[in-house]
Amino acid sequence: MAKDIPLLETVPTHVGVIMDGNGRWAKKRGLPRKFGHREGVKTFRAVTRRAKQLGIKYITFYAFSTENWKRPDDEVQALMELFEKNLDEVSDFIDEEIRVRFIGDRSRLSPTLRSKMENTERSSEQFDQTTMMLAINYGGRDEIANAVKEIGRLVKSGELDPESISEETVAQHLYLPDVPPVDYVIRPSGELRLSNFMIWQAAYAEYYFTNILWPDFTVEDFDRAIADFSHRGRRFGGV
Ligand code: IPE
Ligand code: IPE
Ligand code: MG
Repeated sequence: MAKDIPLLETVPTHVGVIMDGNGRWAKKRGLPRKFGHREGVKTFRAVTRRAKQLGIKYITFYAFSTENWKRPDDEVQALMELFEKNLDEVSDFIDEEIRVRFIGDRSRLSPTLRSKMENTERSSEQFDQTTMMLAINYGGRDEIANAVKEIGRLVKSGELDPESISEETVAQHLYLPDVPPVDYVIRPSGELRLSNFMIWQAAYAEYYFTNILWPDFTVEDFDRAIADFSHRGRRFGGV
């Protein structure tokens, strides 16, 4: 599966991937939706490895949103089982020296899943080349509300002057304050929306949309998406 590394002028520092289209992939084959999620994990693993080969420092995958609890119980259950199983298999990322972190509100996740998440984070925290973040029970609005709550506590205790609150203060109270903003958001499956993904961090991101369903998305598709980024002219409000 070794593929040549394309020559790229620039790669994004932080890529966000909205893994979408698993359900439709399964439906097209007359299979239950959970088969699509299972297939999507393969893409996730291949793209994570590729990100490291391409020299991408941070990559965040949207795996479960705060809105995804609205799905039928059996689908939610299947997804939670898949996360647990996948964390048992994460040792090969560790062999490849990929740091694994999680982003989202963990309080609603099972104690077993939470402890696996903590173990994975601990056993990979020494790696600094590529960090892969998995967003589980993540919502951008939830993250901002949580930051506001923390800031409110500091104001109440007198540790923070409300007049001094800046964009930086908010950024410092997001779930992973040390991770740089998202430069590039990739969304497969044809939907043209963020669905509450990193709404603060992606304020100046570039976007890449494709109709390919996530389980069909290949390493070559990822290379193409990353190559497209190097042609974007970013101005950040300047000239
Ligand atoms: C994305 O695939 C995975 C999750 C949201 C967990 P979907 O399950 O949303 O697939 P579609 O959009 O229904 O095809
Ligand atoms: C976004 O996909 C969430 C994840 C990929 C985890 P959805 O399939 O939940 O988004 P909507 O409902 O189409 O906006
Ligand atoms: Mg979807």
